[in-house]
Amino acid sequence: MSEVTEINYGPLKEFIGVWKGDKGMDIAPESDGTEENPYYETITFEEGGDLTNGEEQVLAVLHYRRIVKRKSNDGIFHDETGYWMWDAKENVIMHSLNIPRAVSLLAGVKLTDANYKNGKLSIDISAGIENNDWGIVQSPFMKEKALTKNYRQVIEIENGKMTYAETTMLDIYGREFEHTDKNELILQS
Ligand code: HEM
Repeated sequence: MSEVTEINYGPLKEFIGVWKGDKGMDIAPESDGTEENPYYETITFEEGGDLTNGEEQVLAVLHYRRIVKRKSNDGIFHDETGYWMWDAKENVIMHSLNIPRAVSLLAGVKLTDANYKNGKLSIDISAGIENNDWGIVQSPFMKEKALTKNYRQVIEIENGKMTYAETTMLDIYGREFEHTDKNELILQS
C-alpha cells in the first residue's frame, strides 16, 4: 500500500468518514412469517490506500464496518465488514461484504456517466449464486437451510447524505424470501 495522501479514490471519495442513520427498516424471515425491525446504524469507511494486482490492475480501497442496532432493545443485530474497491482504468466498483452468519459476497458494477447526475452519485451493485463474475460464498449449513441467492444494493450519495436500499433474496423455511433493508445516513463532521 502506498501513501494514503496520494490516492485517487474516485467515486469512493464520497464514502469516506463516519455515517449515522436512524430511519432504518429491516424485513427479515421467520419460520412462521415476517419480522419488521426498525433500526439505527453506524457505517465507518476508512481509507485503505491502493494496491496492484497482477502488476496491472490498480485498486483504490476503502475498508468499512457497519454496526446495526434494533430500536426496540439497542442490541446489535447486524454486523458487517468488508471493502469497497475502485478500478480507475475500467471504472469498476467492487464491494466485498462479510457477515458472521458465514456468508460472504463480492458484488461489482461498471460505472458510466449515468452514475453521476447533478452532484448525485448512484450505484446499483449486485452479486448472485449464478453470476460468474460477482458471486456469493456461504457455509454448507447456510446453503442447505438459509441460502442467499442474490444480493442487490442501490446507494445514492449527495451532499453528505446517503440513502440505500438492499435486497437479499433468500431460500429459507421452504420458501423464497425477500429480505430487505433501507436507511438514510448523514455524514458526521
Ligand atoms: C441492515 C442490515 C440487516 C439486518 C438488520 C438484518 C437482520 C436480519 C434478521 C433480524 C434476520 C432474521 C434472523 C434473526 O433474527 O437473526 C436475518 C436473517 C438473515 N439475514 Fe439479514 N440482516 C441484514 C442484512 C443482511 C445481508 C446484507 C445479508 C447477506 C447478504 C443477510 C443475510 C441474512 C441471512 C442469510 C439470513 C437468514 C438466517 C436465518 O434467519 O436463519 N442479511 N437478518
